[in-house]
Amino acid sequence: MLGRDSFHSRLGFVLAAAGSAVGLGNIWGFPTQVASNGGGAFLLVYLIVTLLLALPALITELYIGYHAKANPVEALSEATSGVSRKLGAAGGYFGMAGALMMLSFYSIVAGWMVSHALAFIAQIIENQPLSDWFVSHSTLRNFVFTPLFIAVTGLIIAKGVSEGIEKWSRRFMPVLLAMLIGLLIYIAMQEGAAEGFRTYLSPDLSKVTDPDLIIAAMGQAFFSLSIGVGGMMVYGSYLKPNENLFKLGGSVALLDTFIAFLAGLLIIPAMFVAKHNGVQIYDNGKLIAEDRLIFDVLPDLFMRMGDVGLYVGFAFFVLMSIAALTSTISSTEVPVSYLVEAKGMQRKKATLGISIVVLVASSTIIMNFGTLFMLVVNWVSRYQLPLMGLFYLIVVGWVWKRGNHLVGQEAKGAVRYLGMYLKWVCPLLLTLVFLNVIR
Ligand code: PHE
Repeated sequence: MLGRDSFHSRLGFVLAAAGSAVGLGNIWGFPTQVASNGGGAFLLVYLIVTLLLALPALITELYIGYHAKANPVEALSEATSGVSRKLGAAGGYFGMAGALMMLSFYSIVAGWMVSHALAFIAQIIENQPLSDWFVSHSTLRNFVFTPLFIAVTGLIIAKGVSEGIEKWSRRFMPVLLAMLIGLLIYIAMQEGAAEGFRTYLSPDLSKVTDPDLIIAAMGQAFFSLSIGVGGMMVYGSYLKPNENLFKLGGSVALLDTFIAFLAGLLIIPAMFVAKHNGVQIYDNGKLIAEDRLIFDVLPDLFMRMGDVGLYVGFAFFVLMSIAALTSTISSTEVPVSYLVEAKGMQRKKATLGISIVVLVASSTIIMNFGTLFMLVVNWVSRYQLPLMGLFYLIVVGWVWKRGNHLVGQEAKGAVRYLGMYLKWVCPLLLTLVFLNVIR
């Protein structure tokens, strides 16, 4: 397609795709899952399912976009043209709906990260009431920070692929890594951290075969690699020709997994430092996880560290905000690229339109938080993403014939074996896990 925007460098692509992958899922979700699923056992299973299932699914998603050079709806209908374009397009729309759902809850949570960062600033300037408001769970606060986050995402997306997504990913990702490592070193030096390292790094092998743990690790791996909403597909479509997708996909997965690992190395020891400082970290014999871990335990710890803790807390929530932003960017690009390419809309208008749709969806969740929030989160992470991953694998393994270099007569050498693995083993494994989820 003439004039289609693209990534200007390979590094730019890797940072953008890793930016999509690295998000709240890594820095919040992953350590939380570790804390509630037997420490190191979860880490071990997570590494295995990432390698065996999530990485192949990531390469498959990138591959469809890379070859079709189009947005997910058109790319999937292209890949299914031998059988039924409608089927592919339907899959594309389903994925796009997933991207919008993901954005609708993710933007709310991302907004909390920004407001918590500002709460530490309010503490630094000694304005306690303001700080209290920033951390209050009020609807008004959500209606300030959710739109703010959607707007910032929109401003970057409106600039386009190389000038928006690539440029900002190249700026944000090194900052994110530096902040993460800085925080990690600081926490590692505090008293109590050693017990955290032990809990994190020594797997309780009796838990490794627990089906619930395996399912949780799978869902986490798909969510963490952003598989199944079309964000990776559309990024793959912006690659220049003659790229090695195995290497690129491998680099993205490696970076994502490495950052999740580092986040665990930060958060789990931080919990034990908190314990050392008198913060309660166990509830009914289990490590406190989920929202209370991020919004109670850690802030409580930072507050007890004196003045320097305020800066550490601020840095932590800025880190979270950056991680979230590079993830909302990639999901927003999915519907925007569709409107621009398939409907001929101007990029700025398309971005504005999608931002409004996301805002309406987020507002609906905010207004019905108790009933809707966890419902949407669970639907997206447990069902939508693995289901779409399965769809991609079936499309590439079984439906797509002509021009498919991974499977069939055109596949050669080692690629042929990988193709067979994608065609037979991955869908089977994924179906097995999936049957377990709906059981
Ligand atoms: N991978 C992101 C995270 O770990 C979440 C995400 C899912 C982003 C799907 C884009 C698409 O937080």
